[in-house]
Amino acid sequence: MLRALLSGLGWRGGIWGCTFSSRQPHLPPARLLSATELVSHWTVVFEKRGIPEARESSEYIVAHVLGAKTFQSLRPGLWTQPLTPWQLQYVQELSSYRLQRMPVQYILGEWDFQGLSLKMAPPVFIPRPETEELVEWVLEEVTQGPRVVGAQGGPLILEVGCGSGAISLSLLSKLPQSRVIAVDKGEAAICLARENAQRLRLQDRIQIIPFDVTLDGSWAHLLPWGPVDLVVSNPPYVFHRDMEKLAPEILSYEDPLALDGGEEGMDIITHILALAPRLLKDSGSIFLEVDPRHPELVGSWLQSQPDLSLNLVAVRRDFCGRNWEGSEISPNSQANKLSYSRGCWQKTQIPA
Ligand SMILES: C[S@@+](CC[C@H](N)C(=O)[O-])C[C@H]1O[C@@H](n2cnc3c(N)ncnc32)[C@H](O)[C@@H]1O
Repeated sequence: MLRALLSGLGWRGGIWGCTFSSRQPHLPPARLLSATELVSHWTVVFEKRGIPEARESSEYIVAHVLGAKTFQSLRPGLWTQPLTPWQLQYVQELSSYRLQRMPVQYILGEWDFQGLSLKMAPPVFIPRPETEELVEWVLEEVTQGPRVVGAQGGPLILEVGCGSGAISLSLLSKLPQSRVIAVDKGEAAICLARENAQRLRLQDRIQIIPFDVTLDGSWAHLLPWGPVDLVVSNPPYVFHRDMEKLAPEILSYEDPLALDGGEEGMDIITHILALAPRLLKDSGSIFLEVDPRHPELVGSWLQSQPDLSLNLVAVRRDFCGRNWEGSEISPNSQANKLSYSRGCWQKTQIPA
């Protein structure tokens, strides 16, 4: 696992070239500690060093070293049993990454999304819990709308910006008749999404294609796969001026191209909205995760693009999300997550 982390896909900077010094300032006392003691030890160290989610981080790391996903799911006998010297050393090494603000998801090398265990590797975007709600909305529409039936009996779905494959693969796992075309600009994302598709044995129903949605005429490359029933995307939608407010975990480890949506966060959104009607069937829908400011901005933009024939169908807002102002946003932090919204636009049916 550690070797996998150290050879992270395409990662350019940071800790990847480092070796650990034999001086280990945070080494716990010499006697062998139990899992519970170790979690307490690293929680204190993390808190002293200002590491967010100190207890959760140390629990995840200790559980991972003991072969479990969460501390709570460990066999209770293991809580009090001393760890072996090798396990202690491994906890020490993984905790050193956390001290460098590496997100826990990258440290563990895998993370769950919609009940699927996905491989994670920097700098590919870590799927956020709020995106699970976008997936659930698409599933609701597909299962409740008889209209969405592709040639194979399930909808053909295009995902723009697939990252690790979280959205596409979870849709495929829930829709056994569906097929997905998943595209991304990032080479590391394409490799990781393909690896995740193989791990989950979903590779036969997904085409994962390197593709830059901003390139003129690029959509023509996707025509042979279409027309599609649905387009779904969690695009880069952070306003450029908000990027600096992101937590060090995000800024140092995740690809900024996965987050930065330009001046008003609309750079990639507008390209997706321009591309989608060319590939969508009549009455096909586009589901996007966006910033709460975007439904209105998209509405104004669409008024200037009448040829696109797209209508806003619904917006679902995040009522527990917090405003950007004054907050630092870290990945997967429920208490401190970015505000977001989800919107569905439909292609207007062209009369026969
Ligand atoms: C916010 S991430 C979402 C990843 C994944 N769908 C998820 O929810 O975990 C946005 C993704 O869009 C990709 N992306 C950014 N610009 C793009 C472009 N011009 N064309 C295609 N994909 C792009 C990034 O590489 C990144 O993987």
